[in-house]
Amino acid sequence: MCFMPKKQYFCIMISSFGTQLEQWYESFGRDLPWRRTSDPYLIMLSEFILQQTQIVQGMNYYLRFAERFPTAESLAEASEEEVLRLWQGLGYYSRARNLHKAAQEIAKAGHFPKDYSFVRALPGVGDYTAAAIMSLAFGEPHAVLDGNVQRVLARHFGIAEPIDTMQGKKLLRALADELLDRQHPALYNQAIMDFGALQCKPAAPLCETCPLAETCEALSTHQVDKLPVKSKRTSVRDRYLTYIYTRTQEGLTLLRRRGSGDIWQGLFEFPMIESDKKLTSKQVDEFIHSSLVKVSVNIKVDLIAQDVRHQLTHQRLHADFYCLTLPSADRNAKGQWVEEKSLDRYALPRLLEKLLEKMK
Ligand code: ADE
Repeated sequence: MCFMPKKQYFCIMISSFGTQLEQWYESFGRDLPWRRTSDPYLIMLSEFILQQTQIVQGMNYYLRFAERFPTAESLAEASEEEVLRLWQGLGYYSRARNLHKAAQEIAKAGHFPKDYSFVRALPGVGDYTAAAIMSLAFGEPHAVLDGNVQRVLARHFGIAEPIDTMQGKKLLRALADELLDRQHPALYNQAIMDFGALQCKPAAPLCETCPLAETCEALSTHQVDKLPVKSKRTSVRDRYLTYIYTRTQEGLTLLRRRGSGDIWQGLFEFPMIESDKKLTSKQVDEFIHSSLVKVSVNIKVDLIAQDVRHQLTHQRLHADFYCLTLPSADRNAKGQWVEEKSLDRYALPRLLEKLLEKMK
């Protein structure tokens, strides 16, 4: 039982919070390649990749990028196509484009400046990434506030304010800034992020072994599975895509490049038609004859896969995949004919990689 006035109790919680997290991190923190460097470019690279994927998968991408582009200058000089190809599989290619542009701005500056305003203004760098770079690379006192940190704070301090409202965001930001260990911002930031990822997990958090259990407001009020609170339910849109993998007997396939204003900008894909619901085979036939086979030739159409699902943040894609075999390439077809054996030179959306797997 605590008889302290609530405010004073809160202050004691705050003062030991960071220390306990850092002690936990010394024992259980992950040994990750980007934690062995203080090179701001490599730290930025890791953060761009980790916005997209889990640590395990991100590690391979980080190692490949860091090997191919060890400096901002080397990345700045690469072609966008090469960057996208290396990014392939991570999705959200606008992030890869921003990473590329950010490297170009750093290269133009001649070095990576230890300057929050510069870093925050880089393409693709928001509050979180800027705080991560400033603290992890330069040891500057900026508190990170990502999903893991929001969850840890909302639970530990019993914050029932929805985290996606202005007020909730302000409250968490103030608390995050207050809690930061200003002497060791890199250690503290890594500790709280790992603690959120490994101990205070979204589902089935490890409360029985938690070093902060004694002062955890959510645990004592049985709110662990209720916090953090979100006000909005994000709506998900269904989209139906029918792909026609168009190949010739000589081993060519037809690729088209996606334009701007939608997902997968600048990536390559096979001829595709989008519809409000799944196309019937008659509609597929009409599409093939109206846009891919203009003259009367012998064709073969095989259904390879149907209703292959692919989840994006606010969209659920349903893809049907057909293979159309033509005797030879129609040079007037929209798109470019490429050798099937060279397909891996083109950046394709992850969904199409999944569909290609099904062809094998
Ligand atoms: N997620 C994104 N960046 C991270 C980092 N630096 N450490 C742990 N988890 C992360």
